[in-house]
Amino acid sequence: MTMTSEPGTDAPGSAADPRIRDGRLVAEVIRADFPILGTTAHGVPLVYLDSAATSQKPLAVIEALDGYYRGYNANVHRGIYDISERATSAYEGARARIAAFINAPESRELINVRNATEAINLVAWSWGRANIGEGDVIVLTELEHHANLVPWQLLAAEKGARLEFIPITDEGYLRQEVYAELLKLKPKLVAFTHVSNTLGTINPVAEMTAQAHAAGALVLVDGAQAVPHLPVDVQALGVDFYVFSGHKMLGPTGSGGLWARRELLEAMPPFMAGGDMIRTVTLRASTWNELPWKFEAGTPDISATIGLGAAVDYLTGLGMARVRAHEQELVAYALEAIAEKVPGISLYGPRDAARRGGVVPFNLPEAHPHDVAQLLDRVGVCVRAGHHCTMPLHERLNLPATARASFSVYSTRQDVDALVDGLRDVQRIFRS
Ligand SMILES: Cc1ncc(COP(=O)(O)O)c(C=O)c1O
Repeated sequence: MTMTSEPGTDAPGSAADPRIRDGRLVAEVIRADFPILGTTAHGVPLVYLDSAATSQKPLAVIEALDGYYRGYNANVHRGIYDISERATSAYEGARARIAAFINAPESRELINVRNATEAINLVAWSWGRANIGEGDVIVLTELEHHANLVPWQLLAAEKGARLEFIPITDEGYLRQEVYAELLKLKPKLVAFTHVSNTLGTINPVAEMTAQAHAAGALVLVDGAQAVPHLPVDVQALGVDFYVFSGHKMLGPTGSGGLWARRELLEAMPPFMAGGDMIRTVTLRASTWNELPWKFEAGTPDISATIGLGAAVDYLTGLGMARVRAHEQELVAYALEAIAEKVPGISLYGPRDAARRGGVVPFNLPEAHPHDVAQLLDRVGVCVRAGHHCTMPLHERLNLPATARASFSVYSTRQDVDALVDGLRDVQRIFRS
């Protein structure tokens, strides 16, 4: 079934919504909303276990894109004619619902960007270049995706700032006692991931943010692997900047968000310059538009943002607490099934399913992860293999690469069973 773009039209969990039974998601029903999950790969049914890289899209999102291009494709904020006004209202309406999804106090604090990478670069270029100077300290962690590492490396190199890193335990938790020591250096910024894309670790964002603030630092949180999978409330977390990607949360590629407190955004200089972000322009000088458009130069990805609005409606209809419960249950099942049925396999990340998101990294002793992924592909099972854009983390774990299975709302125990069967086949091939 598909959802309309109006959230809550079918009361979740009511008899009218077969996707929820006894307060739990019924992934077998949800799958029917995702056309791609009915297709095959190499002649066998697709088992998609790479949702951390990008999620699949429900019909509601596909139809939102289609509806825009077929029905009211026009530029936003400019036209005085009907379809342009409809496009503007759909685009701004999506912004409001995306902002509400993370409980932003005001939708003008939500900047539409193409992805989490762009959002972090925006902060590093705009806030970073205005506020970071020689000798200033920025605290990051060993868990970070390259997207939350490289922009700070560039900034630090340019400004003569210093990067410090919170190390991890072997299980993948941030070492909080070292963090407390690093805060004594009085950093200007602490930037870390909410949920690790490689190990799945869920970091204690509210606690770490309170400590950072007490030490005088601002906090940026990379929510690329959190917003799709658990309830996120930026006000309750208390953070200053929060970023996410739409394509990982059932939305289209080219959509994403940067949320920041209004006073920070007001004080920040523009990132990109051009049309739409200005109030007045003369040949030699310009003044800036108000928030959020000050940070949205040029024609935005209108359809992607409208599509992300539909994705947010879809997730809201399921309920994020249920999404989290579903994935937590699936991770616990996967960790147990894999450990029990695939002898010799190494599993990484927190053992406590309550403290990890829906990713399961692993290695077989007999095969390189690329070979594992290739052989799994032959039976229709899609997993990621490589460093998952976390090379320093792999170095810390002393691993050249890992294979990774990851889940979303449509993932089932049958998917996990197919992975287990596939891994046993890989072992048979390598042992024969
Ligand atoms: C934790 C984390 N941060 C940032 C990113 C970057 O996301 P994007 O490529 O959509 O900008 C990813 C993507 O895998 C991620 O997992």
